[in-house]
Amino acid sequence: MPSPAEAFGVASIGTPHTPAATRVMLLGSGELGKEVLIALQRLGVETIAVDRYPNAPGHQVAHHARTIAMSDPQALRTLIEAERPLLVVPEIEAIATPVLQELEAQGKVRVIPTARAARLTMDREGIRRLAAETLGLPTSPYRFCDSLARLQQAIDEGIGYPCIVKPVMSSSGKGQSRVDAPGDVARAWECALAGGRVSHGRVIVEGFVDFDYEITLLTVRALEAGEVRTHFCAPIGHLQVDGDYVESWQPHPMSPAALARSQEIARTITDDLGGQGVYGVELFVRGDEVWFSEVSPRPHDTGLVTMVTQWQSEFELHARAILGLPVSTALRSPGASAVVYGGIDAVGVAFEGVAQALEEPGTELRLFGKPESHRTRRMGVALAFDRDIDAARARARRAAAKVRVREA
Ligand SMILES: Nc1ncnc2c1ncn2[C@@H]1O[C@H](COP(=O)(O)OP(=O)(O)O)[C@@H](O)[C@H]1O
Ligand SMILES: [Mg+2]
Repeated sequence: MPSPAEAFGVASIGTPHTPAATRVMLLGSGELGKEVLIALQRLGVETIAVDRYPNAPGHQVAHHARTIAMSDPQALRTLIEAERPLLVVPEIEAIATPVLQELEAQGKVRVIPTARAARLTMDREGIRRLAAETLGLPTSPYRFCDSLARLQQAIDEGIGYPCIVKPVMSSSGKGQSRVDAPGDVARAWECALAGGRVSHGRVIVEGFVDFDYEITLLTVRALEAGEVRTHFCAPIGHLQVDGDYVESWQPHPMSPAALARSQEIARTITDDLGGQGVYGVELFVRGDEVWFSEVSPRPHDTGLVTMVTQWQSEFELHARAILGLPVSTALRSPGASAVVYGGIDAVGVAFEGVAQALEEPGTELRLFGKPESHRTRRMGVALAFDRDIDAARARARRAAAKVRVREA
């Protein structure tokens, strides 16, 4: 088993369900994991999909479906040791990452991109301190606080208003709120306590960056002539509402200086995190100035758009890169994605208006197959390509709006 510092490539791909199979385990099997699994399936890889609840989207397309609490160290260790996959691919943040580090150090498994990257990025503190303090990348001003009093103090002593308060462990905007005045601080603290993944009561408070736009720069570390090289996708623009992505498009226009600076920042952070695979580097841009925000060591939700904009989607890029196969980040067409939300709380919903949504040429849908719908849960996505991003965005929005989720 090669160490994560070494370049890695499969010499051959075996046949699924035989002893020679090339076996890959996904930890987390939501809509992003499902697409990675499909990309691996197409390459003849034997796949093991893991999630915390049965019948998750990725469970439905993998050779094997496993349901465990991935945040439980013992359950995670037992499963990995029983399955002994060639690669373990984290798709979510809520994983007992110390177990991954331990098994990787023992040479029992290769973690994508590395166990250290999975560990650092599951916690806003780990990745922010690495980016700002160790690597010297520009970020919003920030402080970590363990109590309401400390939070107020951090704001008074320099973070100022407006600012954003987030639990150190959370995603998709959960527990995050904007604070405009002293009267908002207590509510933001409560919101972070309720919305964090673990009830640590530790938050990051960040000065608000008044950006012109924000992008995800998909950055692929893949093998080329025996060495790991960095490839950049065209920048993806996106719109976030309450910290959750509702629309994305590619390519987002940027000044050459801002693009060069973005690539430089993305290269610095991904070189440090290492390994092979796709990273989603989130950046804020104002004029030619760029701030690092955060990074996913895996395909990014805003990158769902690449299924219509690139010859190789971010999921295919990830599958290729982790196996040590060549990649191309070439763009195929401008395009956009628009999220289809549940809108209702129900189990086993039905989607209506699918035919109407697909009537328009250049549109596609992905319905994720989630067994349960919630009002703000992402249940599907509309994708569209067109001559430019504005036309594509309008198309994707129209298609998404035609899909209705109802109780079955
Ligand atoms: N310091 C900030 N200044 C301005 N906007 C921010 C800041 N931090 C977060 N945001 C907004 O909130 C969104 C979600 O924040 P992020 O840190 O990416 O959380 P998550 O891990 O939940 O995605 C960002 O994409 C951005 O739109
Ligand atoms: Mg984010």
